[in-house]
Amino acid sequence: MNRVPKASVESADWLEFVRTLDDASVDLLYADPPFNSGRAQSGAAGAYDDAWPSTADWLGWLRERLAATLPKLKPTASILLHVDWRTSHHARLLLDELLSPDHFVNHLIWSYGLGGSSPRRFARKHDDILLYAIDPDRYHFEAPMVPATSRRMEGQLKKATDILDIPSLNNMASERTGYPTQKPLALLELLVGACCPEGGLVLDPCCGSGTTLVAAARLARRPQGCDTNPDAVAIARDRLEAVHAAAPAPAPPLR
Ligand SMILES: C[S@@+](CC[C@H](N)C(=O)[O-])C[C@H]1O[C@@H](n2cnc3c(N)ncnc32)[C@H](O)[C@@H]1O
Repeated sequence: MNRVPKASVESADWLEFVRTLDDASVDLLYADPPFNSGRAQSGAAGAYDDAWPSTADWLGWLRERLAATLPKLKPTASILLHVDWRTSHHARLLLDELLSPDHFVNHLIWSYGLGGSSPRRFARKHDDILLYAIDPDRYHFEAPMVPATSRRMEGQLKKATDILDIPSLNNMASERTGYPTQKPLALLELLVGACCPEGGLVLDPCCGSGTTLVAAARLARRPQGCDTNPDAVAIARDRLEAVHAAAPAPAPPLR
């Protein structure tokens, strides 16, 4: 059997898209929304607007969409909300309010390394990924294994900590699509593998170039996503098609 699950990617607003989903059907919500950067994000293969009248407007936009998505999550589901220094403090309070603080699991730091520095402050080199569980007593979690860094454990694997050292995509990276703010597949494979059971449904409602959906498909999870930007959806569909094309051919029928 071909193990790459069928994906669904729609050109739609997060709010409209989640209304079409069945209640209690999603195993993992990963959302990487616009970061409230105050400017358009553009790349060689697309652009999206990220200028908001105020942080309160951004937060209201996010609150409405998260609230509409919660009924779609299974009791064993988790939420990964990917933000940065601009809004992580607001986003954590928002999730505390929507779910209650005891549903907080982790504040992950994605430490990505690349980029410039500043003479005026410590260089900002990480994003924040907030992990919450619908039910803190029974959410799915399988600790990812990463290479140990200590000399004592050289060459061995250890359980990942809440600091994820994964380089951002450089200009030569073969997975680079040209879509702005594309995340590395290594990051999404680590998150999806840890937080969604095999065969489970992964929802990315701001899917951009489709990195989460590709990670889900490669790991035999069911990918579903949307984006308001048709360019993003076209890139995501092409990437998913490539995963399907690379999958082993179905076994011949038994005689
Ligand atoms: C940070 S990017 C996602 C990047 C993606 N994780 C990747 O690896 O390519 C945010 C995305 O949210 C999309 N977006 C903005 N408003 C949206 C909305 N209301 N519903 C769905 N997607 C939206 C943008 O078009 C953009 O592609």
